[in-house]
Amino acid sequence: MKRVVIFASGAGSNGENIINYFQDSKKITIQKVFCNKKGAGIFDRCKRLGVPCELFSREHFYDTNDILNSLLKITDFIILAGFLWKIPESIVDAFPKKIINIHPSLLPKYGGKGMYGMNVHKAVKDNDEKETGITIHFVNKKYDEGTIIFQAKTRLEEFDSIEDIAKKIQLLEAKYFSKIIEKTIFKNDN
Ligand code: GAR
Repeated sequence: MKRVVIFASGAGSNGENIINYFQDSKKITIQKVFCNKKGAGIFDRCKRLGVPCELFSREHFYDTNDILNSLLKITDFIILAGFLWKIPESIVDAFPKKIINIHPSLLPKYGGKGMYGMNVHKAVKDNDEKETGITIHFVNKKYDEGTIIFQAKTRLEEFDSIEDIAKKIQLLEAKYFSKIIEKTIFKNDN
């Protein structure tokens, strides 16, 4: 059984999809969710789904090794599902090619610091892009620059609002993220 931990910062739609997808899996188990934002939507979802969700602070994450030590004990893989803080180098070093992030654009476009969630979709809209998409990639020490595992595109229309773009992205995320996680975990480890 491969053990997986999810990090999330927000609404948690990706986190919920992943938990549901692996609910009856004999090969992958979702151990726990970590969240850095008090009151984030992911807490209610985890409660409903029966998965523990732990709140942690910036100090705890960056100034101590507590989270690293706990990860080393409880998980094989780390999934960033809408997690907006940079992963400390000590955790990246301890989990090479074992941390997977989803980004709501076709990286390297619209990546980097400050580029998350609606900011990405707004920038895509402002630049009159004809398409956008999702990127699933390994996490390394540089923000949004790890090896790309998978990308999927969606067409944009001139009349698409920022919210329309967000919805198109959410559909792609729901369609692909869990499947790519599953594939990647077993490709990496056979
Ligand atoms: C998702 O669209 C995810 O791709 C994005 O945040 C959203 C979280 O939604 N991640 C980033 O922007 C990372 N830089 P969710 O909380 O409903 O899963």
